[in-house]
Amino acid sequence: MEIIVMPFLVFFLLQGAVPVHGQTGDRVTPGSSPIADGRSLVSAGGIFELGFFVPGDAKKRFLGIWFKNIKEKTVVWVANRDAPLEDDRGALNLTDDGNLTLLSGAGVVLWSTNTSNAISPVLQLLDSGNLVLTGGASNNLLWQSFDHPTDTILAGMNIGFDYGRNLDTYLTSWKSDSDPSPGEYSYKMETRGVAQLVLWKGATEMYRSGPWTGKGFSGRPNMSPNGLFNFQYTDNQSGLYYAFQVLNATVLGRATLDRNGRFQRFVWTEGSSEWNLFWEVPEGQCDQYASCGVNGICTMLYSSSCNCLEGFVPKSPAEWSLRQYSDGCVRGTPLNCSTDGFRQVQNVKLPDTLNASATNRTLDECGDWCRNNCSCIAYAVFEQSRCLTWFGDLVDVRIFADGEDVLHVRLAASELESLNGDSGKKKTMKIVSITLPIGILLLVCLCLVLWLKCRRRTQGKRKSFQSKRDEEDELELPLFDILTIRTATNDFSNENIIGEGGFGPVYKGQLEDGVEIAVKRLSRDSVQGLREFKTEVMLIAKLQHKNLVRLIGCCTEEDERILVYEYLNNKSLDAFIFDKTRGGLLDWQKRLEIITGIARGLLYLHHDSRLKIIHRDLKTSNILLDNEMNPKISDFGTARIFNVDQIEENTTRVVGTYGYMSPEYAMEGIFSEKSDVFSFGVMVLEILSGKRSRTVSPSEPCKNLLQHAWRLWKEGRCLKLVDDALEDSYSNSKVTRFIQVGLLCVQEGSDDRPTMEDVFLMLSSEDVMLPQPSRPAFYTASAFQKDWTSINAIRITKLEEVIHLSDI
Ligand SMILES: *[C@@H]1O[C@H](CO)[C@@H](O)[C@H](O)[C@H]1NC(C)=O
Ligand SMILES: *[C@@H]1O[C@H](CO)[C@@H](O)[C@H](O)[C@H]1NC(C)=O
Ligand SMILES: *[C@@H]1O[C@H](CO)[C@@H](O)[C@H](O)[C@H]1NC(C)=O
Ligand SMILES: *[C@@H]1O[C@H](CO)[C@@H](O)[C@H](O)[C@H]1NC(C)=O
Ligand SMILES: *[C@@H]1O[C@H](CO)[C@@H](O)[C@H](O)[C@H]1NC(C)=O
Ligand SMILES: *[C@@H]1O[C@H](CO)[C@@H](O)[C@H](O)[C@H]1NC(C)=O
Ligand SMILES: *[C@@H]1O[C@H](CO)[C@@H](O)[C@H](O)[C@H]1NC(C)=O
Ligand SMILES: *[C@@H]1O[C@H](CO)[C@@H](O)[C@H](O)[C@H]1NC(C)=O
Ligand SMILES: *[C@@H]1O[C@H](CO)[C@@H](O)[C@H](O)[C@H]1NC(C)=O
Repeated sequence: MEIIVMPFLVFFLLQGAVPVHGQTGDRVTPGSSPIADGRSLVSAGGIFELGFFVPGDAKKRFLGIWFKNIKEKTVVWVANRDAPLEDDRGALNLTDDGNLTLLSGAGVVLWSTNTSNAISPVLQLLDSGNLVLTGGASNNLLWQSFDHPTDTILAGMNIGFDYGRNLDTYLTSWKSDSDPSPGEYSYKMETRGVAQLVLWKGATEMYRSGPWTGKGFSGRPNMSPNGLFNFQYTDNQSGLYYAFQVLNATVLGRATLDRNGRFQRFVWTEGSSEWNLFWEVPEGQCDQYASCGVNGICTMLYSSSCNCLEGFVPKSPAEWSLRQYSDGCVRGTPLNCSTDGFRQVQNVKLPDTLNASATNRTLDECGDWCRNNCSCIAYAVFEQSRCLTWFGDLVDVRIFADGEDVLHVRLAASELESLNGDSGKKKTMKIVSITLPIGILLLVCLCLVLWLKCRRRTQGKRKSFQSKRDEEDELELPLFDILTIRTATNDFSNENIIGEGGFGPVYKGQLEDGVEIAVKRLSRDSVQGLREFKTEVMLIAKLQHKNLVRLIGCCTEEDERILVYEYLNNKSLDAFIFDKTRGGLLDWQKRLEIITGIARGLLYLHHDSRLKIIHRDLKTSNILLDNEMNPKISDFGTARIFNVDQIEENTTRVVGTYGYMSPEYAMEGIFSEKSDVFSFGVMVLEILSGKRSRTVSPSEPCKNLLQHAWRLWKEGRCLKLVDDALEDSYSNSKVTRFIQVGLLCVQEGSDDRPTMEDVFLMLSSEDVMLPQPSRPAFYTASAFQKDWTSINAIRITKLEEVIHLSDI
């Protein structure tokens, strides 16, 4: 079949003739023989095909359009959804006056465009996937399949209203994989109030996109420009509709409302072997319409995902505490129009706009107007002058990590006062609750450090460390003499090299008294100043935890930047888990301890040490194992120190390792403790599966461990992920729990990921209920876009090992 196709196509294009079998070119005129079973239309560029098909395991036939060159048959449109053909004798016939009809073998009309009075009509399948019927001298459009979508929107197709033609186009799901008749889900433009797309299950609202805010829908923050798609929203006299374009002709795109009510956007790039999921809605509990009731706000936090908007309290506190949120929230203090004020809620999905109205006002004008109209409950402004105002309850509000919209909510003056006062109170409470334990901890640490220092100093003398007293005082860490290091490492002999990174080699060394050390010699072209180097070293030296590798000294003589660490006998974790034979040394119990050990070390870095430290380059090769196989986190070369209340930071120099980096860090340089959590999640999955996350290749951006794990998880087969080397040593429920925690850590949204505190709790207590993970990053949207647009192969290899101390 495939072999015949091309010559036919070429022949047809050259001759304009109509072949008798197989395909009949891209168009049909009343004279030509009808489309019948085994005879199809193919668009000029060979992208789409129109013909008869049998969906799934159905016995019945349907007339439809699908992607011609994609093996996994992807039907994008069906003509006779409700009226299947029972046999293979159906025919699509175009009458002289332009009525396109699908007839059964018995001559029964199954479907018809019901068009007439056309002069020399032509039916043509375009490369966009649109089947168009034109006629007359100026080829007027009589009918097109894009006006009658089934479950799929293609590039160039509109969802919404065309006022001129009085047309409402929307998607309806298939009933099942083998039944394309309309199912219960639909995705429609809702024009009451301010327009938004709404996903319905029958008459029940399941999800809404939120209003269009210029860059995208308010409830879909990752519609930002991405190099693959361009999203369009039109609201003028001629229509109100949503559409998308594909920016690169080598890319195919579609968005489909599947039979389970998920609206999923897919892309197909050259060389792909399957459709790649770009994003889907609804995703997670917060996407469920009004999941927190009226005036509630949904956030993906761990203790509870529903809160009341500030100034509101649960209507039924008892039910609320039982996580029954449907009653929603009511005002804490009633409004008194003249004295009310507004409170900002940031990063929101704007509330349901069913009863809202839009006007043309600037932010100030909008605020004044809302303040002066007592029934105006909230307002928001976007695109400078689009002012939305809400009346009545605020429904279906959620918070996004990367949401951009700001909602101003009307509150009674007294409520605002107490909120403003509250934040002060909260802060002091927080400070007290943080400083108290930290204070105690600090005291203990200080004693420990002093004691260690004393001990080390005396030892140092004994061991002739030849440290310089004054500088040492400043550093609180022994300064090694370069000669000592040279002697210990056999003058940096190649034979002593035990590791190599982008920063320079690591040597094994032995001090005169037999103590073994690991010497990290940083490359000289590091641009970091001496002072910064020392600051960093000093901070790291203060970190004392059994799951962190201990820094025992440094050396800065002769322009050298040398770090001296305790030497660990065993290799790094990756040398075990990815190795067939050594992998067997780590049974389930050991792996469990390793995972909890790493979590403990990380928890210390993030929460328990005096400073909040973000490691930024966590990976299995940076986890060293001691004699008892206890994990120790090493390599703080990339660590960043945060103030305790600092949440995230932005850097222009992304350092880390591809495959372990969270999407927001790899792509936007934003890092926070949640980027470490992400890397931790990747490690958990690696440790359990014995597979590397980095088997990712640019040509197959979606073939990686996370995707694999996610797929198995979704299919309820997550135990399949477990390393064969573990044999039957594990408990199913526990390993499932660990996989779930791993998946929670690698979720795309950094807000959705747990903190290390949460993680530690979830790992150590079986009583903690785990939320369902949402799709991991590097499987979806932004990750994939990035693979496409900026992370090219070169950058990936560069990122592989880069560690810049200079970034501190
Ligand atoms: C198909 O179309 C041709 C040309 O318009 C017409 O002559 C013929 O009767 C049609 N066949 C059927 C089964 O309607
Ligand atoms: C188109 O054809 C169908 C089937 O023959 C018929 O039922 C319908 O009335 C026709 N419509 C027009 C406008 O001719
Ligand atoms: C076809 O069009 C005619 C005339 O407009 C209308 O009466 C008839 O209901 C239509 N049939 C279908 C199947 O839409
Ligand atoms: C409405 O917008 C669409 C797309 O931006 C444009 O093609 C059309 O001409 C506009 N119609 C009016 C009446 O402005
Ligand atoms: C489209 O994608 C191809 C394949 O990756 C690439 O070579 C080409 O430069 C892209 N074209 C545009 C206009 O971006
Ligand atoms: C509303 O505020 C005004 C001015 O402060 C005050 O006089 C009035 O009593 C208040 N009304 C209510 C119902 O609290
Ligand atoms: C819209 O207003 C109607 C009538 O007041 C009310 O029943 C409904 O709950 C409101 N819906 C939303 C989403 O605000
Ligand atoms: C909104 O108002 C501004 C100035 O008042 C005006 O220039 C602009 O055209 C208006 N936009 C719309 C959509 O009416
Ligand atoms: C407040 O706004 C609503 C809705 O736009 C309107 O019906 C009402 O008349 C306004 N009230 C005042 C006092 O302006």
